[in-house]
Amino acid sequence: MDLKRKAGEKAAKYVEDGMIVGLGTGSTAYWAILKLGELVADGLNIKGIPTSKNTEELAQKLGIPMLKMSEVNKIDVAIDGADEATANFALIKGGGGALLREKMIASIAKQFIVVIDPSKYVERLGQFPLPVEIITFGWEITSSQISLLGCKPILRRGNQAPFVTDNGNYIVDCYFDSIVDRDGMNTALNSIPGVVENGLFVDMADVLIIGRENGDAEVL
Ligand code: 5RP
Repeated sequence: MDLKRKAGEKAAKYVEDGMIVGLGTGSTAYWAILKLGELVADGLNIKGIPTSKNTEELAQKLGIPMLKMSEVNKIDVAIDGADEATANFALIKGGGGALLREKMIASIAKQFIVVIDPSKYVERLGQFPLPVEIITFGWEITSSQISLLGCKPILRRGNQAPFVTDNGNYIVDCYFDSIVDRDGMNTALNSIPGVVENGLFVDMADVLIIGRENGDAEVL
């Protein structure tokens, strides 16, 4: 079985009747959402909060009832993927461009479950370029201020034009050699005017599920 699928389906087991569930974005969270769709069709009563427009469309197709972010103040469990994850649950997210809503939803989740395949499990963060969501106004200035933190920011593009997030912002993918002081970097990035949010998720994940080749998915 696909390793992302193994991890995603395992995470769906954490969801119980009556829960409000944060629905992540990407090809691993996809499998959790698909499984939840099946369970809902079989009578499970949950409400989803999607982390992106893509996920909202998927959940709608699957018949998962949804709430708006403004209708909740707590989420029981959020399930989402990651681009990198360490043994102490530090993450880089935002490869799919949904990091802002993902971080907002994870921040109010009682339990944040991260689902990955083994290629995402790393010793130290920073091989994957760190996505940073910035406003379009004066983005060049914001990007050059970000570069002073020791990275090379590249404006994300799709089909020639800049990639625009669900929130109407740009993303710069920041190439660091490695990120040692994760808390410091998180604070420094978010202190730059023009930065909306960055893809470092520190001290947020509660459970890390890794799809493994042999046997069941591993739960850390
Ligand atoms: C989207 C994300 C995704 O969770 C991350 O990019 C992992 O995606 P995938 O499961 O497709 O590898 O942060 O913004």
